[in-house]
Amino acid sequence: MTVAYSHSHGLGDEQSIWFKLTPLMNQDNPMQILMNLSEKYGGIIPINLKNQRIVLLSDVEHFKRVLVENADNYTKYFDGMRPVFGRSMITIDGALWQKIRKPQQAAFHPQMFEEYFPFLMDAIRTKSKIWADYAKSGETVEMVEQTWTLAADMVCKALFDREMPFNPHFVFGMVKTYTDVMNHKEIRQKKVTGELDEVNDADAAKAMKHWGEVPDAVLGAPIIDDRQKTLLNMILAAEADPEFPEFDHQQVVDEMKQYLWAGTETTALTLAWCLYLLSQNPEAADKIRAEANEICGDKEPTWDQVAQLSYTRQVIQETMRLYPPIWALIRVAAGDDVIEGHEVHEGDKIVMCTYLAHHSPKYWNDPEEFRPERFSPERMKKRTKYSYLPFAAGKRSCIGGALSQIENMLALVTLLRRFQPEYVGDVPAKIQSTVTLCPKGGLPFRIRELS
Ligand code: HEM
Repeated sequence: MTVAYSHSHGLGDEQSIWFKLTPLMNQDNPMQILMNLSEKYGGIIPINLKNQRIVLLSDVEHFKRVLVENADNYTKYFDGMRPVFGRSMITIDGALWQKIRKPQQAAFHPQMFEEYFPFLMDAIRTKSKIWADYAKSGETVEMVEQTWTLAADMVCKALFDREMPFNPHFVFGMVKTYTDVMNHKEIRQKKVTGELDEVNDADAAKAMKHWGEVPDAVLGAPIIDDRQKTLLNMILAAEADPEFPEFDHQQVVDEMKQYLWAGTETTALTLAWCLYLLSQNPEAADKIRAEANEICGDKEPTWDQVAQLSYTRQVIQETMRLYPPIWALIRVAAGDDVIEGHEVHEGDKIVMCTYLAHHSPKYWNDPEEFRPERFSPERMKKRTKYSYLPFAAGKRSCIGGALSQIENMLALVTLLRRFQPEYVGDVPAKIQSTVTLCPKGGLPFRIRELS
């Protein structure tokens, strides 16, 4: 069944929280405004926006209350993202969420990562060949697009056992067209000023039509290795289970969309921001190369060596502190609650701004400094609980967090040992807080091959 979506059902809907937050998006660093607000008014700020109450939280105790202690009182908020995610598990709550997550959980057990390892490396080698060509031509590349296409290839190969059957640059463009909330807002403003008779949602609808076709293309793509224990086979087994009527073909399609977006955009943003930070801190890039040389010699890493790449892991963790791809976790209050003496009403939208905790001097010394050593095992023990939540916390935390770190560690050591990616944009890079924390206008790089 094809579902027709338009702006009125998506991020461009005036009731959508993303649409309401667009004033933030016009700034070079929208997070600075939120930081100023929380410094002045504290960790809990209720805001009334057009008859809707938004409660902004930035304190670790508040995160704990909503994500863990009283988690059942807070449901997921995904209105604007339906066209991207359908009704996949990331969007649903309660018993059905649990039922849908259960058969997929095993695909993310650390024991599976060894099986994924050769396929992740395959995708990275393909990217490495492409970068060798960029190094020769000297052209400028957009890094988020580069890392998105790599992450999509990794999901297809490792988790679905399929060759990537679509042009990832085209699909990347489609996803960006839809999630560009500023564009939705400009279109609506033109309607208000009379420049448009009606809201023209053709681009977003076209983008989502192509996006909707991607899962079936993957299902029909050549199987790589006929592995039995893949995420895709677990999903297909749930569809075939007569005891599980809820898991129909639409559910298969929606789960795949979820992985192709949630598993790629976030992983890709982390790697792209990481390369930006390393371009500004070249001594850290050299340290990654030295660590890899010491552990792997002049060869590619083997699976057994990955756990020893501890500085590389710390660099990725520090990147997600400074630039958490999911900068806020959003929930809807299903019933009234009281958080630190403040009333929360049924229906309130709760925005837990993890970015603020990641940048707060309450929890981090010199929070704006890039210091991967903060994540050394000894220092990690001293960290305040819930002050670092790139993957959220509680029962709804990210299913793929550990996998994404393996993906990015392998990509980082392999690509950095062969290339020097040179950032050629403005410093500091500007950020845009749409659904994810993106670089405003992208991250332009030139690739130089090391001799
Ligand atoms: C750096 C990479 C990643 C980051 C920062 C990230 C972040 C997150 C966050 C914050 C959530 C919770 C959202 C909320 O509570 O509202 C989440 C959920 C989820 N993520 Fe990730 N993620 C990453 C990589 C991945 C990967 C690689 C996959 C799978 C291939 C994945 C699949 C999911 C799924 C399926 C959920 C929903 C889980 C549920 O509701 O039960 N993510 N992610």
